[in-house]
Amino acid sequence: MTDTTHNASAASADSGRSDNAMWSGRMAFILAASGSAVGLGNIWKFPYITGENGGAAFVLVYLLCIALVGLPIMVAEVALGRAGRSSPINTMKALTRRDSQSSKWVFIGWMGMAASFLILSFYSVIGGWSLAYVGNAASGTFNGASSEEIGALFGGLLSSPGTLMIWHSIFMVLVIMIVARGISSGMEKAINILMPILFFLLLVMVGYAMSTSEFGKGFDFLFKPDFSKLTTDSVLTALGHAFFTLSLGMGVMMAYGSFLPKNVSIVKTAVTVSIVDTIVALAAGLAIFPLVFANGLEPTAGPGLIFQTLPLAFGKMGGGTVFGTLFFALLLIAAVTSAISMMEPVVEWLEEQKGISRRAGALIGGISIWLLGIATVLSFNEWADFHPLNFLPAFEGKTFFDIFDYLTANIMMPLGGLMIVAYVGWVMKRETIENELVLDRGALLNLLMFVMRYVAPALVLVVFLYNLL
Ligand code: PHE
Repeated sequence: MTDTTHNASAASADSGRSDNAMWSGRMAFILAASGSAVGLGNIWKFPYITGENGGAAFVLVYLLCIALVGLPIMVAEVALGRAGRSSPINTMKALTRRDSQSSKWVFIGWMGMAASFLILSFYSVIGGWSLAYVGNAASGTFNGASSEEIGALFGGLLSSPGTLMIWHSIFMVLVIMIVARGISSGMEKAINILMPILFFLLLVMVGYAMSTSEFGKGFDFLFKPDFSKLTTDSVLTALGHAFFTLSLGMGVMMAYGSFLPKNVSIVKTAVTVSIVDTIVALAAGLAIFPLVFANGLEPTAGPGLIFQTLPLAFGKMGGGTVFGTLFFALLLIAAVTSAISMMEPVVEWLEEQKGISRRAGALIGGISIWLLGIATVLSFNEWADFHPLNFLPAFEGKTFFDIFDYLTANIMMPLGGLMIVAYVGWVMKRETIENELVLDRGALLNLLMFVMRYVAPALVLVVFLYNLL
């Protein structure tokens, strides 16, 4: 069983490490977890849903969701993973057995795996857009282009199922290749270099946005709340996005946590990852909204928002070809490091349960996800008017892509998160969880445990039920 392999590797990672190696254990995890958290969710999704939901009031709710719901759930999820030391499904099996609890809780693992499947199927198509835009930027297509031309470029991409399929396929092949090989130290090193470059480029983009005439308007849009614009649906969207952006509620952080050395503080690490993720999202918003307003575009443009705003800026600024190419390349890298993490629970489980090799697991999982992705590809063209679940009010007017997105972010991830905090806060033996959080003893931990047991479940439940009824 891989179970024992995990235990063995964890044990060897825990024993005989020098101070230097210990620090590297914490850093490696922060990098991997940040690589998973920072992705299309921050740069693509956060700006467009903020635009659709009226701006600052939504941002405020989102920040509250990160602090009061996201952070405690991340701590709970990583702690579960480290306590169980295997894939989410087997971690839950082992933990429920150890604590003599109902095996029904293993559902957390199953639903998480289903969510990974659904999310990656559309994530890969959007990742494909970034691939296409690396090419567009590098070939100088943006230079001096008008907003109509940029809009037409994006429209042309979406209307062509063949082109979308090619990019979606290349993206999935990339992901399968990396996952099949395992996440080597080479990959970690690459992330180590690329994440700071991503930060730097985001700063450059924010700097550029500051030089435009509408920076103030963009800033106000993000930070000056107008609560009349807030709907209950926006609150659910903010909550769902807190889960999405921190990769929570579906076992990804559990899988990554299963490789975390015992001597690393889970709370500190989770706080760091949440802060990094939030800064990247806010910076993306600051880079984008001033351009939206300066170019007379609509903040409500939807999923195409960054693909229709940033190219305009690249087309106008000096060195725009270089910056544009780099930016979309980094968006792509951010997407790939998140996509890899979504495959991890699936592949880990395939390896453990069926004696399938990692390679075969990556291939089986990857091909199934790629096939499902075709539904998203067609959602933007041939099936744009096909709304398969129209008979359900919550899914009215939604394409396959909309349905996958809504189902995962607004239902499966919050539900998974709710079960995770319920399990850690109320069901799991106190000593099992305390054992994972010994390094974090103190006031912060007490506060966090309180939030984990009462505040987070209550918030998720209220928002959830309100929307259901
Ligand atoms: N957090 C990633 C992002 O913001 C998406 C993701 C969701 C990754 C769920 C893993 C699991 O893009």
